[in-house]
Amino acid sequence: THVVSESCIRCKYTDCVDVCPVDCFREGPNFLVIDPDECIDCAVCIPECPAGAIYAEEDLPADQLDFIALNAELAQADGWKSITKRKAPLPDADEWKDKTGKLSELIR
Ligand code: F3S
Repeated sequence: THVVSESCIRCKYTDCVDVCPVDCFREGPNFLVIDPDECIDCAVCIPECPAGAIYAEEDLPADQLDFIALNAELAQADGWKSITKRKAPLPDADEWKDKTGKLSELIR
């Protein structure tokens, strides 16, 4: 599967959802995840993300491995709904884009 990592938190640019052929993105308040049961590993979303948040599972940086389980969990979580159309990013997206250590900012 492919995985949305920390860089998406507080950004949510949503360019990724426009190109997904299987509509596997799920949206929370300030983060998106990929439903691993739906992703077909086409990889077209990777270059679309301005924050560089999306990785093939096997390419995830070591400090992002927790996001494999987090994507799977949140894809099934209450209130996390399918998103298939691009929309405006979060207002402070550009300020948060290059920040690290954002996991504590995640709103479920
Ligand atoms: Fe997030 Fe990047 Fe998509 S910031 S919403 S993974 S384009």
